[in-house]
Amino acid sequence: MTMSTIWLLTLFSVIYGSAATHHIYRNLQSVSSDSSNQPYRTAYHFQPPNNWINDPNGPLRYGGLYHLFYQYNPKGAVWGNIVWAHSVSRDLVNWTPLDPAIFPSQSSDINGCWSGSATLLPGNKPAILYTGIDSLNQQVQNFAQPKNLSDPFLREWVKSPKNPLMAPTSANKINSSSFRDPTTAWLGKDGHWRVLVGSKRRTRGMAILYRSKDFVKWVQAKHPLHSTLGSGMWECPDFFPVLSNGQLGVDTSVNGEYVRHVLKVSLDDKKHDYYMIGSYNAAKDAFIPDEESNIFVLRYDYGKYYASKTFFDDGKKRRILLGWVNESSSVADDIKKGWSGIHTIPRAIWLHKSGRQLVQWPVEEVEKLRAYPVNLLPQVLKGGKLLPINGVTASQADVEISFEVSKLRKAEVLDYWTDPQILCSKKGSSVKSGLGPFGLLVFASEGLQEYTSVFFRIFRHQHKYLVLLCSDQNRSSLNKDNDLTSYGTFVDVDPLHDKLSLRTLIDHSVVESFGGEGRACITARVYPTLAINDKAQLYAFNNGTADVKITRLSAWSMKKAQIH
Ligand SMILES: *[C@@H]1O[C@H](CO)[C@@H](O)[C@H](O)[C@H]1NC(C)=O
Ligand SMILES: *[C@@H]1O[C@H](CO)[C@@H](O)[C@H](O)[C@H]1NC(C)=O
Ligand SMILES: *[C@@H]1O[C@H](CO)[C@@H](O)[C@H](O)[C@H]1NC(C)=O
Ligand SMILES: *[C@@H]1O[C@H](CO)[C@@H](O)[C@H](O)[C@H]1NC(C)=O
Ligand SMILES: *[C@@H]1O[C@H](CO)[C@@H](O)[C@H](O)[C@H]1NC(C)=O
Repeated sequence: MTMSTIWLLTLFSVIYGSAATHHIYRNLQSVSSDSSNQPYRTAYHFQPPNNWINDPNGPLRYGGLYHLFYQYNPKGAVWGNIVWAHSVSRDLVNWTPLDPAIFPSQSSDINGCWSGSATLLPGNKPAILYTGIDSLNQQVQNFAQPKNLSDPFLREWVKSPKNPLMAPTSANKINSSSFRDPTTAWLGKDGHWRVLVGSKRRTRGMAILYRSKDFVKWVQAKHPLHSTLGSGMWECPDFFPVLSNGQLGVDTSVNGEYVRHVLKVSLDDKKHDYYMIGSYNAAKDAFIPDEESNIFVLRYDYGKYYASKTFFDDGKKRRILLGWVNESSSVADDIKKGWSGIHTIPRAIWLHKSGRQLVQWPVEEVEKLRAYPVNLLPQVLKGGKLLPINGVTASQADVEISFEVSKLRKAEVLDYWTDPQILCSKKGSSVKSGLGPFGLLVFASEGLQEYTSVFFRIFRHQHKYLVLLCSDQNRSSLNKDNDLTSYGTFVDVDPLHDKLSLRTLIDHSVVESFGGEGRACITARVYPTLAINDKAQLYAFNNGTADVKITRLSAWSMKKAQIH
């Protein structure tokens, strides 16, 4: 341990608290650091040159450019001093930074400019609603619009002198510490706008609904759009239509016969993004989840992933999902490296044809970064075998692999349904079964002292097969200060008829995996000490007793994206 680490650790013990969702390290909020020698910085995942980032805010497409705003501390690598930083892109892959768009400047946001969303008003006029922390430390909702609509970069934003437009009062009994993150607004057939704000009443999490004719005067609806007892604070709600058939996205105001609705919330108590599929009853302004659906079931991502937001891309007619991935390293390490937080690769998102879940897939533009393809012939991978995937930059790669299994009678019997994440942490890649574990070993060091395994395991449970997808970080780093939690989920595929496909995006300290063609996503952060840069190796493996067949294996080195 270096002297500076000891000094930092001493600091932590003094200042530790909690506001909203973030631990507060007051004395570290403005500490900068040397950022040379950085094996963990990403090459094609979004991150600024230094400092703390969290939620993506107000994504929109305007003047042919994608705009991304995000929660940012301009002064340090821990949460604090939050402003809306701003970057633009032509392809969602390469990004150009601009000056912060929204920062504290009026009494309704003088203590912070927190998350919010953009809406395109008639005449293609962007409008932002965001949460301000006012001079009384209350959470209120504010409005801002571009100063110059002829500037495609939307560099300057003007706040309404009428701010705040929505605020807690003694009459509405809204908890002033639990009232934040307005959604993109949608327009009803009656010509009135609707918007949701995340909140809770005691343990009942809710999406408070407001209506407005002019986007300025907002009236709280009598009932929230939806609420759930025991779910705690709903952060970053997102409410959007998806077509019941096909992958095209639609504008947030679309409703009708061929449309289902998705309500997603970031549960503050659980720190995961959950969603429900259902119907939006426009007459009652209520969301009715499909039968057997509740807020504790489906997640966007079963690894590290929070505070996500979608927007409709009217250029390519698709809905795009952006999300924040925090670090798994210690705060001391974050301070040393001078940064914390990244965003995932933007994902296209649509309803699976079963109607029971969403599907997510990295936007096609990221494939422009693929170079030097390596394709292996279909082959049998015997139990206990490792297959090196040579010729790709294993610390910066995109890998697609598909498996076929034949001996399903060999699947391990699961007597009692068990939480998949617990199954993954109990049965890591070294625990053999009949069918599985098989998958990828990423960030593997020469002697396998370090590796992260992403794999399938098949169980038989009550005459059905269950396909488990795990991302096991237990051996990912010799540095045990990191969070090494294993993640897992069942993938709704049928191993009798479907291929078991896995795509993994590897980027220095990120392992972003898509199982079952995007039906299950798991994002992990890892910090190898040996398997860094050109020391990292990549393998396919089968540690089950039965053979499996690799029907496809394609891997690419990924070029560096231009991000700042
Ligand atoms: C608005 O932006 C356009 C395009 O960048 C620029 O030419 C024009 O001068 C700007 N107008 C003002 C008033 O700044
Ligand atoms: C309001 O929300 C805050 C933050 O979660 C909580 O600590 C407080 O107990 C809530 N107050 C009431 C009256 O529920
Ligand atoms: C960030 O990561 C830590 C440790 O890995 C985790 O405990 C925490 O809940 C995460 N926070 C959020 C908001 O995701
Ligand atoms: C495969 O299983 C063996 C024996 O259980 C174990 O020693 C080895 O580490 C496993 N391989 C991986 C990649 O986990
Ligand atoms: C990692 O695996 C070891 C056994 O190899 C186990 O004792 C330990 O609890 C695991 N740690 C985590 C974080 O899962």
